[in-house]
Amino acid sequence: MTFSSAPLTVLAPATVANVVCGFDVLGFALAEPNDTMQLRLTDQPGVAIIHEDEFGLPTEPSRNVAGAALLAMLRGVPEEVGVEVRIRKTIRPGSGIGSSAASAAGAVVGLNQLLGQRFTLPELVHYAMYGEEVASGVRHADNIAPAIYGGVTLIRATVPAPDIVPLDAPPLFVTVVHPQIEVKTSDARRILKQEVPLRDAIRQWGNVGGLVAGLLQHDYSLISRSLEDVIVEPVRSILIPGFQDVKDGSRIAGALGGGISGSGPSLFMLSQDEATARAVENVMHATYQRLGLAYHTYVTTINPVGCQILVESASTAPVL
Ligand code: HSE
Repeated sequence: MTFSSAPLTVLAPATVANVVCGFDVLGFALAEPNDTMQLRLTDQPGVAIIHEDEFGLPTEPSRNVAGAALLAMLRGVPEEVGVEVRIRKTIRPGSGIGSSAASAAGAVVGLNQLLGQRFTLPELVHYAMYGEEVASGVRHADNIAPAIYGGVTLIRATVPAPDIVPLDAPPLFVTVVHPQIEVKTSDARRILKQEVPLRDAIRQWGNVGGLVAGLLQHDYSLISRSLEDVIVEPVRSILIPGFQDVKDGSRIAGALGGGISGSGPSLFMLSQDEATARAVENVMHATYQRLGLAYHTYVTTINPVGCQILVESASTAPVL
């Protein structure tokens, strides 16, 4: 098996998990923002993590999301190898747009490249989920899978092995607002009810099926009708100031719909064209300026390729 001795740089994208109705089973990758990570193999077995950003994340490999994913992956490698990772995060931890997944996915994609691409995509998802476990206590894949595969992904199952279904989707513009409050994924999961009334489950799986069909058939009206969550959103939205104003105002501005990105606090809205996505951004500006809450917005698209290896010419090439 060939090893690459040259260091490489990976761009790892932000992601939107759940996509309103698909709690833990749907997600998509964003064209922006991205984290940057440099990886190289070392003679010293194990994992070394260096953070070159302002966030003060733990660097002990077992407590670091990239580190935990890499340790899991190295356990699947018979040779004694070591890897050093330098991480520059742009995706703010705790923002709800897959910061931990970007670290874990970028790390396993990078190490796989250094090891001669020996793992399959579902295996990369499997290893990266160990990072999510460090971040939130749960091995969910709805940020990891789109970060690795790109585009929109359905996570049909994660056990006994990840069963990931990439979904074709029509052109979509995404407006994201990140109000500067903290919502920990572990807390946002703890408050969820463990039992769901059958009538809510029926409505929700109708929406999940409708959203998947709407994406595959490029039917914007069906996508819009299916962007409804009767199970998770009613519980979590109370944690996010401005939620209802952004949601209602965005629909009035022409958005197809949207809701909480992952476990929040970021909110996202999907639009059919860029002008609408910009009008939605104005709704977000108005909402958070009125509330006097600091925030960031992004108007972006869906990243179709996921993590990318940056080649020397500074252009990018898909690795997978
Ligand atoms: N599906 C997960 C949740 C995503 O909503 O808890 C966390 O980013």
